[in-house]
Amino acid sequence: MKKATKFLTMTLAMVMTVCTLTACGGGAAKGNTITFGTNAEFPPFEYVTSSGVIGEYDGIDMAIAKQIAESNGMTATMENMEFDSLLVALQNGQIDAVIAGMTATDERRETVDFSTPYYTATQVMIVREDSDITAATDMADKKICVIQGYTGEICVQDMGYSYEAFKKGTEAVMELVNGKCDVVVIDSATAQKYVGDNEGLKIVEDPGAFESEEYAIAVQKGNTELLDKINSAIDKMLADGTINELAVKYTEEVTAE
Ligand code: ARG
Repeated sequence: MKKATKFLTMTLAMVMTVCTLTACGGGAAKGNTITFGTNAEFPPFEYVTSSGVIGEYDGIDMAIAKQIAESNGMTATMENMEFDSLLVALQNGQIDAVIAGMTATDERRETVDFSTPYYTATQVMIVREDSDITAATDMADKKICVIQGYTGEICVQDMGYSYEAFKKGTEAVMELVNGKCDVVVIDSATAQKYVGDNEGLKIVEDPGAFESEEYAIAVQKGNTELLDKINSAIDKMLADGTINELAVKYTEEVTAE
């Protein structure tokens, strides 16, 4: 009996060593799991809820990630982290892919590869209802809030305006509600959600000043095996209307909350 226990312990230790060497259960390229990274502070694309489609995470992106995995006979897991850390974690191999309402920009393309785009968005300005801001140029002498690392920050930077950057959209919106800043520049669908959640705010659009942006999933440069899996699933979901349905569903749900 004692011998048997010892044998078991040794076997277990050996299995664990093999696992460490081959990185089973951790790191990238695990057989049947796609480990996605996100920043679940971006409704309706990703947010934390009591029961989401992937663990506690719900939203358009989460439903898309789940279906990408399932249509390839795999399982999706989600790691939630700061938006700024996502591409670093991807390059480190801590995650296999990033799905985070992430705009495929040329700058990001220098370090990662992007999937087929699955959603088109644009930056908008959230202001208080009594604001006199009607165009992006009106921000020149205003206090501008952005979210750190988002394309909205890059837009405002490129316009040459000074601004304050926050870690979360909700923090920037609180500043706006409290009168500590005059305008928040952020992606359209998320802006809708914040305006629905808070009294006294409205959205100002300026399509001439903000170009349209395309959300796509990022993988490590050269990971064509995973990219092909992701793209075939996205193509299917775009063609059969799944992504459109998800966008409508989550936009309504999140606004009605
Ligand atoms: N589309 C913007 C960007 O790519 C904002 C994305 C923010 N996403 C998030 N999950 N927090 O920078």
